[in-house]
Amino acid sequence: MTKRVAILISGGGSNMLALLRDMAAGGHPAQPVLVASNDPAAAGLVKAAAAGVTVAAVDHRPFKGDRAAFEAALLEPILAAEPDILCLAGFMRVLTPAFVGRFAGRMLNIHPSLLPLYPGLHTHQRALDAGDAEAGCTVHEVTPVLDDGPILGQARVPILPGDTAETLAARVLVQEHRLYPAVLRRFAGGDRSPLYL
Ligand code: GRF
Repeated sequence: MTKRVAILISGGGSNMLALLRDMAAGGHPAQPVLVASNDPAAAGLVKAAAAGVTVAAVDHRPFKGDRAAFEAALLEPILAAEPDILCLAGFMRVLTPAFVGRFAGRMLNIHPSLLPLYPGLHTHQRALDAGDAEAGCTVHEVTPVLDDGPILGQARVPILPGDTAETLAARVLVQEHRLYPAVLRRFAGGDRSPLYL
């Protein structure tokens, strides 16, 4: 039985598309069953629907910071899709421990830094400010602590002279689109050993 995968996005969804493409490539132990967003205008929703995947949107703004109420609404389409695995892909809302607990051990996230370096935001600028020689991305299991949890994969890129946060982000994004599909393929096949590209 292929694993059922729901993907949560907030924007363009380039990582979500990379996951869809790989699952459509055949021989994959998983299939996409939902793409959901906290932003009804997320461009990724149109792309997911065009790819034939069920989509859903729950605007977080009317909930005015009541995370539990927003998550209760978001859970409806997610539970209806009966996912085995949840993939956060450019999803920009912090999830409560209660929500994370429902998917313990089967929720993944991609973060644009070499965790444990630079959890949180503005990861590329922080790497530049620190004078790091390299940067990268991490896929990890989601736990109640933000951007923590067991590392399932990492990919590295060099930081080059003259790099800005934008040029570095673009270089890392290319690796995100390689790493996340490779990690999901392994994870869905029952292999949780970390992959270093
Ligand atoms: C990516 O840098 C990802 O690492 C971060 O959000 C950015 C945009 O992701 N979480 P996507 O294009 O929406 O997949």
